[in-house]
Amino acid sequence: MDAQETLKEKIKIITDNYEDEKIDGYITGDGPIPCAIIFVGEAPGKNEIEKRKPFVGIAGKTFEKYLNTIDLSRDKIRITNTCFFRPIKLKENPSGRVTVSNRPPKSSEVELFRNILDEEIKLVNPRIIITLGNIPLKRFTDFKSIGECHGELHFNEDMKRYIFPMYHPSSLTYNRNEKFLSMYEEDWNKLKAALKNI
Ligand code: URA
Repeated sequence: MDAQETLKEKIKIITDNYEDEKIDGYITGDGPIPCAIIFVGEAPGKNEIEKRKPFVGIAGKTFEKYLNTIDLSRDKIRITNTCFFRPIKLKENPSGRVTVSNRPPKSSEVELFRNILDEEIKLVNPRIIITLGNIPLKRFTDFKSIGECHGELHFNEDMKRYIFPMYHPSSLTYNRNEKFLSMYEEDWNKLKAALKNI
């Protein structure tokens, strides 16, 4: 079994044995190994589980659109998640129908995959880790919120790697205003500039 297959098997075992909360399937990271650039999201959603690939739903479309604006494409980057299974919650509506929706991963769920993500990063050996949203931000830095550090290059001394925090692409869905949009676009331009300097 090669290193990627081993990682996949470990993710499967963690998922199969997890009983604390509701979850629905798992995926692995996607993209070349090794790779200079890795993006780390939060956790897969319904589309990702169906297609067995990270960032292929609405957030993924937004992500890819902006990735292309800085002359990058998916085949040039690695993309993965902080939590490899899909955290879900079930809600019964008044008619008795049960709906399934995504929920953010709990800290304990992020911890379940700490070694797996560390191993993936070791294999990929990126020069820069771009965190998408608060969950991977807290996993790789001491910042408390994306609002205080987005669009700037940081250095993780323990990992000896650059970290570039960005808002999660789905934040565009919740912040539908010009100010947020131009700030988000500016962060991508700042990333483009940062990539030239590392
Ligand atoms: N959002 C994430 O954080 N990760 C995915 O893989 C998809 C959507």
